[in-house]
Amino acid sequence: MANTAELTVDGKSYSFPTLEGTEHEKAFDISNLRDQTGYVTLDRGYKNTGATKSAITFLDGELGILQYRGYSIEDLAAKASFLEVAYLLIYGELPTKEEFNTFETAIRRHTLVNEDMRKIFDGFPVNAHPMGVLSSLVSAMSAFYPDLQGGSDEDKTDLHIIRLLAKIPTIATWSYKRSLGHPMNYPKNQLDYIPNFLNMMFSLPVEDYKVDPVVAEALNVLLILHADHEQNCSTSTVRLVGSSQANIYSSISAGISALWGPLHGGANQEVIEMLEDIKADGGDVSKYVEMAKNAKTTGFRLFGFGHRVYKNFDPRAKIIKKAADDVLSKLGVNDPVLEIAKGLEEAALHDDYFVSRKLYPNVDFYSGIIYRALGIPTNMFTVLFAIGRLPGWIAQWKEMREQKEPIGRPRQIYTGATLREFKPLDQR
Ligand code: CMC
Repeated sequence: MANTAELTVDGKSYSFPTLEGTEHEKAFDISNLRDQTGYVTLDRGYKNTGATKSAITFLDGELGILQYRGYSIEDLAAKASFLEVAYLLIYGELPTKEEFNTFETAIRRHTLVNEDMRKIFDGFPVNAHPMGVLSSLVSAMSAFYPDLQGGSDEDKTDLHIIRLLAKIPTIATWSYKRSLGHPMNYPKNQLDYIPNFLNMMFSLPVEDYKVDPVVAEALNVLLILHADHEQNCSTSTVRLVGSSQANIYSSISAGISALWGPLHGGANQEVIEMLEDIKADGGDVSKYVEMAKNAKTTGFRLFGFGHRVYKNFDPRAKIIKKAADDVLSKLGVNDPVLEIAKGLEEAALHDDYFVSRKLYPNVDFYSGIIYRALGIPTNMFTVLFAIGRLPGWIAQWKEMREQKEPIGRPRQIYTGATLREFKPLDQR
């Protein structure tokens, strides 16, 4: 017999069905709560709210487990390519060789961005943050490919997915090139996905650029680690915007904007800036640990620490920390902020404030150090996160549409003024 949850409100009992996911997460189904009881739930920040059923990503924050479609993040980071993982997330299974060739070839053929989009770049200030530019231009893509307006033509979804995966790296590198005053590079379709991105980032007409396989491999791992993370802030945004049947470009653009915030993906830029500040201030990590402990008065948080869901360790951070050591030594880079980061981690992990609140380094803590070693400038870090997260956003948007989810529309508990009489301006 299925379990039920009993609730007593105002002396009356109600029962609600419970459900269990494939990894044994348990939930009360309260879809009829208000109809039955007249009450709604209050859950600020959705700390206890399952907004959807999803078959894409499983994570266990207590055990530090992260799996995409049943494959562990450790296995995928060690053995897969980013585009294989993208296919897995979006279509549910690892591709066969043939399926992969078709997918990859389609992406190669769509890397070129409409020349009129280049003109839009000219209107941005040269020092515009590339996340703002990226979100605007992805939104603009809906004007260039209007055939998905309203989202009724599902047949074209695959083509829009390919366009997003193919063109976002091109657009991302353009904002960087423009900030330097350098000519924007066109994609070179003989190159694979990540080398093509690196070539557009770093090649100049005046000299040869050869993609370093160490750099390409490190980026492959980083993008895989960022590819999905179930119902996080930006992904929930993508699903919520898409639930109104807004088109995929508008939905992804909204996700990019959500990701930019410093408490979410924008934390990777904040971490490096914080480590630089600590270095410039003499490298005394204990001073900053103390400041973070008094966050309520100082307003200072240790960026790259803490996670809504991981309360033991972030499995992505574990892989990234090791990768940071490997990549820096392979590239012969000696970055003093790596030592500061390790010192900060060590100090925080032995401090009761952090231990009792289960605050550990998250994915953003060490990723910036690797990006920096790869030559990627600080204000592009969150853009890299966005390129990595793109397959997850697409997969979640597609699942939401296929499950025919209703429009997202939370309730509230109104705390404002009760009904009062309007007084004309001359009587106030
Ligand atoms: N430094 C100092 N104190 C912290 C930190 C931190 N980084 N994070 C949380 N706390 C404290 C917080 O002040 C609170 O203390 P108290 O119980 O005394 O009021 C307690 O820990 C719980 O924090 P919370 O803000 O209620 O936790 P949350 O689940 O709402 O927030 C978080 C999670 C990630 C937003 C938060 O830990 C944070 O702001 N971290 C820094 C930003 C960051 O690194 N973000 C990247 C997250 S991982 C990648 C991604 O999702 O994009």
